[in-house]
Amino acid sequence: MAETKDPAGTPGPPTTVVLFGATGDLSRRKLLPGMFHLLRSGLLPHVQIVGTSLDEHTRDSFLDFVRAALDEFEKEVTDEQWKDFAQRLYWAPAGIDNLRRVIDEAEAGCTEPQHRLHYLSVPPRAAMSVIEDLRDAGLVERSRVVMEKPFGTDLASARLLNAAVNEVFDESQVFRIDHFLGKEAALNILAFRFANGLFEPIWNRTMIDHVQIDVPERLGLEQRADFYEATGAYRDMVVTHLFQVLAFTAMEPPTTLDPQSITEEKNKVFRSMLPIDPADVVRGQYAGYRDEEGVDPESENETFIALKCYVDNWRWAGVPFYLRTGKKLAEGQRIISVAFKEPPKSMFPEGSGIGQNGPDHLTFDLADRAKLSLSFYGKRPGPGFRLDKLSMQFSVEDTHWSGSVLEAYERLILEALKGNHTLFTTARGVERLWEISEPLLDNPPPVRTYEPGSWGPNQVHQLIAPHAWRLPFERKWRGNGTTA
Ligand code: BG6
Repeated sequence: MAETKDPAGTPGPPTTVVLFGATGDLSRRKLLPGMFHLLRSGLLPHVQIVGTSLDEHTRDSFLDFVRAALDEFEKEVTDEQWKDFAQRLYWAPAGIDNLRRVIDEAEAGCTEPQHRLHYLSVPPRAAMSVIEDLRDAGLVERSRVVMEKPFGTDLASARLLNAAVNEVFDESQVFRIDHFLGKEAALNILAFRFANGLFEPIWNRTMIDHVQIDVPERLGLEQRADFYEATGAYRDMVVTHLFQVLAFTAMEPPTTLDPQSITEEKNKVFRSMLPIDPADVVRGQYAGYRDEEGVDPESENETFIALKCYVDNWRWAGVPFYLRTGKKLAEGQRIISVAFKEPPKSMFPEGSGIGQNGPDHLTFDLADRAKLSLSFYGKRPGPGFRLDKLSMQFSVEDTHWSGSVLEAYERLILEALKGNHTLFTTARGVERLWEISEPLLDNPPPVRTYEPGSWGPNQVHQLIAPHAWRLPFERKWRGNGTTA
């Protein structure tokens, strides 16, 4: 059989990455270690990196910063690997002239013309001025620009931002990043749904009772009070990550895996979503949030949100999607759980255990070490007919692929370098999500206090009744951890 080439596995073209906000937290934790990892894996063989930010640095002090980041987040770095990476790193002090000069310096030794990837790891309010600087410095041609979420804070601001970006960059040059779309496990939802004959026929309102997308975090503000006060849990997580994951879960089969087909199907899901009804939303704030440094002592900002929403189309009409996320909760998890309709239970005697642990479920764990479990009722061995909840489980760790997992940012940087939009969000999609958010943003329910380490305010149970949240899981994951 002829061997087919997977374009995703090919290296990126010769590129100069210009990293704005290069000394920020995201850059330190994800972007610089990610690019190092891509270089080391042979996926980014001809890269130069120009870092810039408002911080004072020289090339040497920037190299120290990067080395410390790699030591903290990449663990194994040999001298040879570091030497190779370090010689590709440059520092541009703030200012257009400096930027131009340092990019020229970085590209001086390159044998082929470099593409440019401007990565804007900067707060939303700074993004526009960077775009204008790029225009004034003549750095638009042969360039792509990666923008970090959130894209605006409501429909009006998102429209303004998109229009302003498109005045400088053609839409084909713009990559709006949502790192949940780069997670291996998120992509596996598509493989699972569309590469198997078993699941797609039951993926609809006739067979599925409800869906939960649950992303509790143990983390608190992590020195991001300023950012978080201006966003809150809904803007930080729901209108971005959770809705994107919902789209992968709910979309129709795309004609092909190309960016246009996938985007079309995702946007159809967003178009079918009903506006968020504030009565279906629980907002929470953890006790002590208002005492955090940088937080308004009277802040009404939510650090927790749970809501019910609907995709009102042929496949999903009437099926509730329950979403939940928040800071300082009991566990850090990222799961999608699909609950199947319960069968008639009449044949089983009372006390048999049928339905006792909720309906049968399919659960995706979106952790970097992706897992999947199908939980179902089975007969307990022995006399009588006692039923218990059992599960079939898959973990990427059990396979020989576990070393090949690309971290979400690595995959997305690589795809942006290649100009592939499949895993990025579009202006239209983002604007539609702000549109359905309007009733909630205009009329948010009051924030309710919850204890750090809990699962949020008590009202979350009423929101999902008569069902129950899957988390915390009742049974242990095979081996380590917990699962369905
Ligand atoms: C970010 C949010 O986009 O995603 C953070 O701004 C959040 O508040 C993070 O903690 C969660 O991402 P992950 O990949 O760690 O689940």
